[in-house]
Amino acid sequence: MIEDAKAEGNKAAERSFTMANTVEKTHAKLYKEALDNLGNNAEADIYVCPICGETVVGSVPEKCPVCGAMGKVFVKID
Ligand SMILES: [Fe+2]
Repeated sequence: MIEDAKAEGNKAAERSFTMANTVEKTHAKLYKEALDNLGNNAEADIYVCPICGETVVGSVPEKCPVCGAMGKVFVKID
């Protein structure tokens, strides 16, 4: 899809697909870590960027590493 967007010169689609691809890699990593820690009762604060969906554990970054949104817009997941 990213390559299709590039070929079509559709920068908005290319940016959107690239961010989604990056964020899904983060989600896959977090899912694996959660599976590896099943039964450990480990708790951590989780925050999501409302612009791109990037997810971080622990504390909010100064800026979203994927889309560059300010950290203050991240939403804590309860
Ligand atoms: Fe973001």
